[in-house]
Amino acid sequence: MEAILKACKAIQEATNNFHPEVGIILGTGLGGFVDSIDVEYRLEYKDIPNMPVSTVEGHKGCLIFGTVAGRKVVAMQGRFHYYEGYAMKQVTFPVRVMAKLGISYLFVSNAAGGVNTSFCVGDLMVITDHINLLPNPLIGPNMAEFGPRFVDMHDCYSLAIRNKATAIAEREAIKLQYGVYVGTTGPTFETQAEYRYFKAIGGDAVGMSTVPEIIVARHMGVPCFGMSVITNCGLSDEKGDHEDVQLQGQKAGVRMARLFTELIREL
Ligand code: HPA
Repeated sequence: MEAILKACKAIQEATNNFHPEVGIILGTGLGGFVDSIDVEYRLEYKDIPNMPVSTVEGHKGCLIFGTVAGRKVVAMQGRFHYYEGYAMKQVTFPVRVMAKLGISYLFVSNAAGGVNTSFCVGDLMVITDHINLLPNPLIGPNMAEFGPRFVDMHDCYSLAIRNKATAIAEREAIKLQYGVYVGTTGPTFETQAEYRYFKAIGGDAVGMSTVPEIIVARHMGVPCFGMSVITNCGLSDEKGDHEDVQLQGQKAGVRMARLFTELIREL
């Protein structure tokens, strides 16, 4: 708690007490959304006390404060993955900080491998629910000032926000898929047997992020919206490749940025 409050204090001092309404985590290849933000302040992670620093190529490490469609937002450019070796407390630290700064919504994007065989590379998937196969970030003593010991996970991905996204996508002619995101540790992509397994247990896409951040946000009662760019199809013969993941992410990111902007306008 002390570490979180110290980070918040430093941020508030550096941003003239900026109070964001929406928190955004920009996933792989989706850094382009930054261009949709009227940036007021940009803080590097290394200048925020207790903030971890990202290590993955292509992931920048800064917190951006500004407005999107007239609404105040804070965006994480660069997130922390469990596979990088961070503890779950570190992976989710920025979400605690954003919540303490006062966000009323959390928007998350990621790259994911499709296991639903009707998905194509480059599709956008609205996350309707998840299956957590990572360690739960809430394991350990409960911080009651944040939320309850046992967290209800109904409406984990807000139906109200998802419905707005559907309406906007129809109006803007953006094709959407919907599905269950399976969160794994990585860093290996899945074997063919694992992709089949994830399909069998009810998954539509699989990735190595998002779930920890969403769990922590839900612990604090923050409504969440998440979207995946399908960068590869697990059950096809092609191999997973980090560069391709980034490229597909960037392309679909243009459509996703449009959707996110309209969604923030209409919240
Ligand atoms: N598996 C796990 N994570 C991923 C994948 C995948 O196939 N594609 C992009 N992120």
